[in-house]
Amino acid sequence: MNAWFRRTVLRVAELRRVKSTFERYGMRMGVRRFVAAETLTGALERVRDMNRQGLAATLDYLGESVEDPLVAEKAANQIIEMLRMIDERKLDANVSLKLTQLGCLLDPDACLKHMERIAAAAGYYRNFVRIDMEDSTLTDLTLGMTGKLVERFGHEHVGTVLQAYLYRSPGDLKRLGEWKSNVRIVKGAYKEDARIAFPQKRDVDLQYVEMVKAHMNAGHYTAVATHDAGIIQTVKSYAAGKGISSKRFEFQMLYGIAGGLQRQLANQGYRVRIYTPFGSEWYPYFTRRIAERPANLLFVLKGMLRK
Ligand code: FDA
Repeated sequence: MNAWFRRTVLRVAELRRVKSTFERYGMRMGVRRFVAAETLTGALERVRDMNRQGLAATLDYLGESVEDPLVAEKAANQIIEMLRMIDERKLDANVSLKLTQLGCLLDPDACLKHMERIAAAAGYYRNFVRIDMEDSTLTDLTLGMTGKLVERFGHEHVGTVLQAYLYRSPGDLKRLGEWKSNVRIVKGAYKEDARIAFPQKRDVDLQYVEMVKAHMNAGHYTAVATHDAGIIQTVKSYAAGKGISSKRFEFQMLYGIAGGLQRQLANQGYRVRIYTPFGSEWYPYFTRRIAERPANLLFVLKGMLRK
């Protein structure tokens, strides 16, 4: 049911008429629940609020599949400005971004140059930039670019994400471990074929836990990005049993999801970071959130009926 639901929602979301309806009425349809603000200033205010509640953030300037070099360059400049403003305002926040936002589909060399400027800025401000993992056509490119950047700027400043639904991910995790990489582990949010990704949720969940344990056990910083309360409990017990300090990992969740659990973990003394998207290019991000949970589709449909 889960994989079928996700694939169907993501396929319908690609239809032009569905997209234009959402873009027109999106804010009324519940986008605000998942997107923190339209502007950087608004997003920084949300981050300040979260910091007051003991929650860190990772800011995401929304944008992906960019094919115009000027738009890619503008995104890179905006991300560097984000790093500067986080530093100026002394916020507890780092940055997440997507390579397709920086035009990797159009020109991978130009994208690498943008990334080098961004990673240099992250180093300068003693901050961290994480490259989100997009669909499986980009896995090799993302890992290759992360490797180059980690080598040049250090694993303290650049890292990436692995998706537990891909059969290949445990192998990729070993490779990232060789670079001592700070890895965010997620279940995976894209439409993937059963030839390369587990179709059954229980298999994804099992591989997820194995990957988290392996990376923690190897002594590398692990970002455990899930809202799955059972998995979170398993990770807490595993860390306690192995004597792994809570400074060696963090929990990550998405803005607008599982707020009670976010605060509960922070109150228990765990580091919790909230993925905080902002900007006007929210459509693909929003549809992935709908695809994760049938109840979200009902929430959106109710919003439409209220119009
Ligand atoms: P699961 O789907 O099993 O959900 C567990 C529980 O969480 C559900 O029962 C529900 O209560 C709650 N929940 C989950 N999703 C929800 C939603 N959309 N709305 C409301 N409740 C929800 N993916 C990717 O491919 N590349 C990436 O770079 C990232 N980056 C990323 C960063 C962070 C911080 C997070 C938390 C997630 C990602 N993801 C991602 C998305 C990830 O792959 C996955 O799709 C979602 O996290 C949902 O899976 P869960 O692990 O929460 O488990």
